[in-house]
Amino acid sequence: MPFLEFVLPAGALALAAPMIQRRLQLSRAKHRSLAGHSRMAKRLARLLPGYAYDEAQFFACDGAPAEVAQRRRAAFETLCAGFAQRYARSLALTAQAREGLADLQFTGKYRVPFQFSPIVSERLKVGAFVQSAEGVSLTDLDGNRFYDLTGSYGVNVFGVDFYKATMAEGAALGQALGPVLGQYHPCVASNIQRLREISGQDEVSFHMSGTEAVMQAVRLARYHTRRKHLVRFPGAYHGWWEDVQPGPGNPLPPRETYTLADMSERSLQVLRSRRDIACVLVNPLQALHPNGNPPVDSGLVDSSRKAGYDRAAYTAWLRQLREVCTERGIVLIFDEVFLGFRLAPGGAQEYFGVKADMVTYGKTLAGGYPIGVVCGRHDLMQRFRPERPADLCLARGTFNAHPYVMGGMAAFLERLRTPEMQALYEGQDERWNARAQRFNAVMEQNGLPMRAANLHSIWTIGYTEPSRYNWMLQYYLRWHGLALSWVGTGRLIFALNYSDADFEAVLERFVQAGRDMQAHGWWWAGSGQSNKDIRRSILREVLATAMGRKIGG
Ligand SMILES: Cc1ncc(COP(=O)(O)O)c(C=O)c1O
Repeated sequence: MPFLEFVLPAGALALAAPMIQRRLQLSRAKHRSLAGHSRMAKRLARLLPGYAYDEAQFFACDGAPAEVAQRRRAAFETLCAGFAQRYARSLALTAQAREGLADLQFTGKYRVPFQFSPIVSERLKVGAFVQSAEGVSLTDLDGNRFYDLTGSYGVNVFGVDFYKATMAEGAALGQALGPVLGQYHPCVASNIQRLREISGQDEVSFHMSGTEAVMQAVRLARYHTRRKHLVRFPGAYHGWWEDVQPGPGNPLPPRETYTLADMSERSLQVLRSRRDIACVLVNPLQALHPNGNPPVDSGLVDSSRKAGYDRAAYTAWLRQLREVCTERGIVLIFDEVFLGFRLAPGGAQEYFGVKADMVTYGKTLAGGYPIGVVCGRHDLMQRFRPERPADLCLARGTFNAHPYVMGGMAAFLERLRTPEMQALYEGQDERWNARAQRFNAVMEQNGLPMRAANLHSIWTIGYTEPSRYNWMLQYYLRWHGLALSWVGTGRLIFALNYSDADFEAVLERFVQAGRDMQAHGWWWAGSGQSNKDIRRSILREVLATAMGRKIGG
């Protein structure tokens, strides 16, 4: 009996050992940052108490002396008055629309760190309306022109005029059918043919958004592998669907998603050893900030935002992923919704020289119309099993293959194969790297603490000196005529029609905005605080608020 008592737990342990080991392996393959621990990030997000700076704290939360705080205050008030006057019409319509548009309320609130947000969103409002676009510029309702650095969330690869043409052509092509759905316009056949050539995949499915395309790719991977889990990497955006958003922002955390560290041997070990993984989702944009959250300015609480792109290292990582996925029968999905058609005519597969099992495209592909596309191997794209007629993988969608969208896509793909467009891709990496280098050299010469990191024409601005006020830069940039999306300086998206002269004009505006930031005291660094000190002082504020104490008191 004593022997049995001794042996049973030991035997149970022996049986459980591989499971425990796999579990440990999984834990160790998570990135140590919060981005790698989505559930914990989600719990913490729920606990984080809201608080806001009062006027005095707003201008001196870094301990700046009265003179600096006063300079900041005066500049802020001048900027508020300037915005109110210069952007009057755009702001008036924005205020009207905001009441009934939750999206505007959200973006208005999340442009800057939450402690500053009430004062900023109340007094330094940003207009959401524009009346026209041409070349590389946008014109608002008051007639102000801005260099467009928003890139229409990545749709605008070739410049707005290109898309105006493809949209008009697409509409003309689709017009004969109007809203007819379920039967196809003939251009669908040529779109399929072109997409097969471009992606090197057997089959295609059409959807209305990138989110839907990713949903369908993952669903098919699960159906065909009969496994449940998907693997994604920290911070990677794949749309707003439940299973690809395990962290804050999604009320129902998925149970079948593993978020593993990007570019990590430990993650490869997990892929090698587990049997429950259906697919690995890769958004190649993460090459710019592996394991980092999307760089939004509302997260700019200090200057620790980092970005940097190493093409060789990322290519090697994709190759390793390819190898292990092949070995283990895991479906490798490249989510090229953002980068497809920007990096190369054949997208990220061509650019990195790695073939995926399935690829999702979207954004720019329908020439300016809403789109999501999945391309994949025949055995993965099939939605039924001939031997089990009731075992289906259902995917429909009223507007899939809409005649106007398909027309826009035909116009886009037709242009893409012209020699001029093929030539346009040449040397883009070098061009944008040189521009980023020039940007950084000019900032350094001017003693300004901003630096650009880029992947091709996608940029992130980082800050070399610790500061709590980097988020103010986005307002000065707008003031100097640069249009940014709501994420601010975290993501600048250049269209490829930016000439050298256009780029120089943008550069000049950055210098002007940086000089304003400096002159108005936002980059005062007299306290000698490091980024770590800043984060510590924010943590103290959070704890004080959680304990019901007044901050700063
Ligand atoms: C890589 C990636 N996948 C999916 C999506 C979702 O696409 P959509 O916004 O069209 O749903 C996006 C959107 O930004 C994306 O960047």
